[in-house]
Amino acid sequence: MPGIAIVGAQWGDEGKGKITDLMAEHADVVIRYQGGNNAGHTIVREGETWKFHLIPSGILYPGKSCLIGNGVVVDPKVLLEEIEGLKRRGVDVRGLKISANAHLIMPYHLLLDQAGETRLGDRQIGTTRRGIGPCYADKSARLGIRLQDLLDEKILKQKIAAAMEPKRQSLRPFAKDPALDLHTMTEDYLSYGQRLAPHIADTPPIVWNALDADRNVLYEGAQGALLDIDHGTYPFVTSSNPVAGAACVGAGVGPRDIHEVWGVAKAYVTRVGAGPFPTELFDEVGERIREAGHEFGTTTGRPRRTGWLDLVALRYAARINGLTGLAITKLDVLTGIDPLPVATTYTGPEGARFDHFPYNQSVLHKAEGDYVDRPGWHDDIAGARRWEDLPQTAQDYLAFISDFVGVPIVLVSVGPGREQTIVTDEGRRVMGGGSGVVAVKA
Ligand code: IMP
Repeated sequence: MPGIAIVGAQWGDEGKGKITDLMAEHADVVIRYQGGNNAGHTIVREGETWKFHLIPSGILYPGKSCLIGNGVVVDPKVLLEEIEGLKRRGVDVRGLKISANAHLIMPYHLLLDQAGETRLGDRQIGTTRRGIGPCYADKSARLGIRLQDLLDEKILKQKIAAAMEPKRQSLRPFAKDPALDLHTMTEDYLSYGQRLAPHIADTPPIVWNALDADRNVLYEGAQGALLDIDHGTYPFVTSSNPVAGAACVGAGVGPRDIHEVWGVAKAYVTRVGAGPFPTELFDEVGERIREAGHEFGTTTGRPRRTGWLDLVALRYAARINGLTGLAITKLDVLTGIDPLPVATTYTGPEGARFDHFPYNQSVLHKAEGDYVDRPGWHDDIAGARRWEDLPQTAQDYLAFISDFVGVPIVLVSVGPGREQTIVTDEGRRVMGGGSGVVAVKA
């Protein structure tokens, strides 16, 4: 019963899209378990570019079940645009199913997200303004509206009215916004419901049946461990749990249904939005990494903050996710930077030294990385396909990460193309045998 979770091990944007796309080829079911259209990734396939925010990119492989789990928050307008876009390009979307229990992002969630950020002024979180936080807040307050509610006009109208009532004060500045008219909103959402109806389903049994039949299930996480609402750099986090444990809740399975957890991490670090970042670079090296790594957000286009690899944070991410493998991406971006500083401890306020990720917000805000210099490499590595193709110093850099974090490296990405991927012996062991997660092409 092979199930593998692919999670972000930093602040999101680690290149999970490429890794999940590679793995999806071998999976029978792919299920997104949290987040919403705050996420986004671009897949380049045979010269064609595909952008996804909600639908697992596995949809590009015919015959897969691609599921949006109950833990995801769904903006139906965005989802329909994504579905229509795929159909226009001839993709068969019949395998797409969305949990009837997934919550809907409503027009007032978008307005509240914007208003919340404006109110915070220079203390703002830097959200994607897609309504994610307010939607999860309504879910917890039991005022959420779910996919299944779209199929019953009376219930839908009642629920929208009930959800808007306690927000009247905060929504007052938008009182004249036509998007907030109860009648219009109900009509719009009913029509979304009609169009989405063939895809609305009870998704957990699809996963259980696949697991029972010894099929491969891929649990696809969005964002990353340090944006986790419980374990990340709160309050500068997203409103869901990107960690692997949340795959159980967001997909409807138990911990024993996850056999491998692969964490995706860049060979350096980026972050979008505000919040602590102990290894952040403010100089021309940071700029060089941003340019070389095309570090601009897929969802919002914002330039990403860049910094040196942070092994204190990565070891923490490994622990809270229970990582069994590390996929290191964008190694090629570091070519030519020599030496390569890597943070192995932090110095906090008053010179205190931390070898673990500090839980205290004030400490974390002031923490700065302490570095060991690792030798860099100068040869172009974009053509490397096997571990042995990498220069010795690049191999050493990866081995240092793996030893420090205590997790084997399974994949190394040296460019955006699918073929620009090195599968290590450990990766091959897991993929080909072991838990039998996938049979990989060598
Ligand atoms: P929200 O998820 O839109 O509420 O944004 C909260 C924080 O998470 C902000 O700092 C965002 O920049 C960040 N964030 C949300 N989604 C992603 C993502 O997919 N990649 C990177 N950062 C993200």
